[in-house]
Amino acid sequence: MTAAIVTPKATFVARRRALHAKLSGPVLIAAGEAPSRNYAANRYPFRASSHFLYLVGRPLSGAALLLANGRSVLFTHPPDPEDALWHGPRPALDAVSHELGFADEGGDVRPLDSLDAALAALGRDVGTLPTQDGASSTWLGERLGRSVVARSGARLTDARDASLADAMIALRLRHDDEAVAQLRFAASVSAEAHLAGMRATAPGGSERDVHAAMLAVLRRAGLEDAYGPIVTVHGEVLHSDDHSQPLRDGDLLLADVGGETPEGWAADITRVWPVSGRFSPTQCALYDVVLEAQLAAIDAVRPGRRYREVHDVAKRGLVEGLVRLGIFRGEVDGLLERGAASLFFPHGIGHLLGLDVHDMEDLGDRAGYAPGRTRSATFGDAFLRLDRELEPGMAVTIEPGFYQVPGILGDPARTGPLGDDLRREVLARYADVRGIRIEDDVRVTDSGHEVLTEAVPKRVDEVEAVMRNR
Ligand code: GLY
Ligand code: MN
Ligand code: MN
Repeated sequence: MTAAIVTPKATFVARRRALHAKLSGPVLIAAGEAPSRNYAANRYPFRASSHFLYLVGRPLSGAALLLANGRSVLFTHPPDPEDALWHGPRPALDAVSHELGFADEGGDVRPLDSLDAALAALGRDVGTLPTQDGASSTWLGERLGRSVVARSGARLTDARDASLADAMIALRLRHDDEAVAQLRFAASVSAEAHLAGMRATAPGGSERDVHAAMLAVLRRAGLEDAYGPIVTVHGEVLHSDDHSQPLRDGDLLLADVGGETPEGWAADITRVWPVSGRFSPTQCALYDVVLEAQLAAIDAVRPGRRYREVHDVAKRGLVEGLVRLGIFRGEVDGLLERGAASLFFPHGIGHLLGLDVHDMEDLGDRAGYAPGRTRSATFGDAFLRLDRELEPGMAVTIEPGFYQVPGILGDPARTGPLGDDLRREVLARYADVRGIRIEDDVRVTDSGHEVLTEAVPKRVDEVEAVMRNR
């Protein structure tokens, strides 16, 4: 089992310094609060905001980081005997200050109830970021005397907030060495989870068996889920959260499962394997079409390459493969223009990856889209989450798919432009394929790329070999 990786405090000091250098005024970054499930004391597990984790590295519920006049001050709950009884003791604030590098930096850690006085001294003229929960939004709004949006995903109307968001994006788009170590750690444990999932698959079992086996690997290594795990024989339901279906001979199982490290860094991996252990000839043929498109798209990942072009490489690869199988007839450029790719691949080729599985999407398309670029209005392309030139240090996913979605294939508005060039009589032979997606995490290097998730088998013979040795 891969050993846990802990980021040294000097990295957090360096990240805070780098942010200070980009700021034009004071900013406050809240960790957030865990929402309650049903009654107040029964809370969901706490996951701090990614911006806070990037700068502090520790999920301190209710805490907030104030950066003002070149100084970093963390405001957090001080030790409390009541807390010690129920949840275990909290460290003293000066211990936190040393542990998290604030003391080294000439910064400070202070009790949360002194935050209001500090903000008043700044005239409450302070920028902030969208929060991840409504309670934090209300709390922050009261502190700053203005409304603060929760999980905006939208336009940031306050100029101070927008400029802080841009500063965070400038830092978080390209991962430092310690972030890369975290991503590798998340990838390697998640890879082991996928191998365990393949081994736990058998006809007569249930999706739940596979789900449980995969999560067990993550939890034993100290990882939580980076997103809701998808383990389904209905791969055509893109983000299915049902894990209750039986596993039948002849089914393909799609698992989109990734863990996040205790410091919050994500992996995002999808593999598809046959429940029986052997792909049928039709499953194998379509799987190889998706795999070839994925390999071509990964090959296109390099500095300077526009990510939209990587998306286009995958679309072209998919349509070329479907022409080879006879599912489409005609010439590839024309088929692409008529929407052939999105009939079977109705989403984008991937997204930024980092502390969030869709990194910085809490800031809407501000992180994913270069200034001046906006989303396409075309079906399929509209779901492309990233349209920037790739740069060394970025991490992205590459995740093409092939899905037979009844709502799309039965919609004349989608299929009409293809006419008889979509050969339904050929497609009907591939009824044992509902959904295939193959997803890897790829880091852009100075000269090309590194596939962080290459330890998970994906060639047909490799997958079948793992399953033969269950
Ligand atoms: N796991 C969600 C995604 O692949 O984007
Ligand atoms: Mn993904
Ligand atoms: Mn995924």
